[in-house]
Order: sequence, then structure tokens, then C-alpha cells
Amino acid sequence: MLVTRRWPESVEKAMAINFEVTINDDDHAMSADELAKALQEYDAVCPCVTDSMPESLFGADSIKTRIIGNYGVGFNHIAVDAAKAKGIVVTNTPDVLTDATADLAMTLMMMLARRAGEGERQLRAGQWHGWYPTHLMGTQVTGKTLGIVGMGRIGKAMAEKAHFGFGMRILYHNRKPIPESEVRGLNAEYCIELTWLMSNSDFVAVHCPSSPLTKSMVNEKMLSCMRTDAFLINTSRGDVVDEKALIKFLQKGLIAGAGLDVYENEPELPNALLGLDNVVLLPHLGSATKETRTAMGMRVVGNLNAFFNGEEPPDKI
Ligand code: DGY
Repeated sequence: MLVTRRWPESVEKAMAINFEVTINDDDHAMSADELAKALQEYDAVCPCVTDSMPESLFGADSIKTRIIGNYGVGFNHIAVDAAKAKGIVVTNTPDVLTDATADLAMTLMMMLARRAGEGERQLRAGQWHGWYPTHLMGTQVTGKTLGIVGMGRIGKAMAEKAHFGFGMRILYHNRKPIPESEVRGLNAEYCIELTWLMSNSDFVAVHCPSSPLTKSMVNEKMLSCMRTDAFLINTSRGDVVDEKALIKFLQKGLIAGAGLDVYENEPELPNALLGLDNVVLLPHLGSATKETRTAMGMRVVGNLNAFFNGEEPPDKI
């Protein structure tokens, strides 16, 4: 099998127990040609978010790969239907990164509200000249309203942390309401209209997966519903938010700020975004804890073991 990037050492070791593994030793992001070749040469390919696998990659007759074990929960970088049409099974790694990603969304919310990035930049630049009553006054988080766009596992986890930890009122928008038993105690209010959630939240956190349906879902129209003192947080995928529109709203002060972990063309970021002070920008760190990255790898190993034992992989998409 081919593992397209370096994984935590313990996972690489676990992988080698049952499989003959080729690892991308220098850890570069693989090119389309390399990935196409991998599909011809390996029984299993284990990509991640940096490996774009569009429909065109699955056109060849001579594909050898029988399973793609994606290292990550999001799989919008893989043309799953085209893979399936070639008889390839595709798996992902749900559950194990829920808390890490929700924790990072909380980090962004707190950093934004309390102007932590601005403060740290000021201090490191030697521009902190002492305490004064109006210095970097931020926004209180406790007791405010959090609007969750996409109440899946990660959205729910953030809602719980925010509600039980910070006493926040929770609104959510989803294709359908969540059964009461799943959100017990949260008093989460379902917003059938996204516009209503956008208008009534102090913080809006985007958690829905990227798909043709959610592409640019947070667009100019949605941003224009937000209050000028409200903040946007995105830890899902960059293309769910219209980045150009967001930059315009941030530049004009039409919303208070944005905390982003994902971008439309990552790792490229528009200079306009980098030049703004009312943003917190992180480099796609949602799942980046030792515990989670290890658990993600073990989940891939579990899927591959099941598949090659003739069983249904638990995380088959
Ligand atoms: C995920 O698992 O979707 C993370 O964003 C990394 O790909």
C-alpha cells in the first residue's frame, strides 16, 4: 500500500504489521501524476486532504487499487462516485477527530473575541507599553449566542462545549432538526432558515462538509445578515465560505471578525486576508493533536485490515 504523507510513528509501525507499505519519505504533497501512478501500482492508497483525486484520475483501465483509506473525515478531495464506479472502496475516519476540531473552533472563537492574536503580535513587536483601561477591549463570550451551521458530530461537540462551558445559547441550521434525544440539555434552537441564524448569532461557526450543496453557502447574502459586532468561525472547508465576499465584509467592518482554519485555495491565502487585523488565521490545525492524528491513522489501519480480511470496513463511505 501507499501512504501519501508521513503519519505518526506509532501508526506507521502498526500499518507495517500486516502490510507492505511504501511511505512518501520526504513528505511532499503528491502531484496528480504521482497519485495516478499510485492507483496503477498499489492495492491500497491512503491519501489525505492535500491529495486531490478528481474524476479524471479514475479514468484509466489499468487501476489496481481496491481501497482508498482516507486519513481524515472530510473526503471532498476525492471523487468518490468515480472511485466507486471503478469498484474501489473508499473509507474515512469519523468520530476520532470530533473533539479536537471542536476544541479548535472554540480556540478561534476565544482568540477572536479576546483579540488574542492582536495582543500577541503587539507584545512580540515590542509595542506593549503597559496596562490601561481601554487596551484591546474585546467581546465577552460567556452568555452570548452561538449559531452552528451544520449540526453533525463536530457541530454538536462545539455546541456542548459552548453551552455547558460558557453558558451560550445555541442556534443551529441543518438540513433537518436533530432528534431531541441527541441534543438533550442544550436547548438548541433549530433555524430552518440560515438567514435567521446569521442575523441572530454573536458567533457563527461553520461545521458542514464541503459538497456541491454547501459550496459558497456563506455568501454575500448570508454575510449581510450578520450584525456588525458578530464573528464568523470556519473549521470545515474553505469553499463553504465565499472568501472574496468575506474579505470585503471584514475590510469594510460589516462584521466584527473571522477565525479561519481552512481556505479556498490552501495553503495559498489572499494577501488581503493576511493584511487584516480582525482575523485569526490558523493553518488547518483542526485535527492536529498527537492523540487525534494517531487515532485517525489507527482508524485507517482498522478499515484496511477489515477490507483485506474480506469484511466490510467500518467507515466505508
Ligand atoms: C479532516 O479530517 O477532514 C481534516 O480536515 C483533515 O483532512
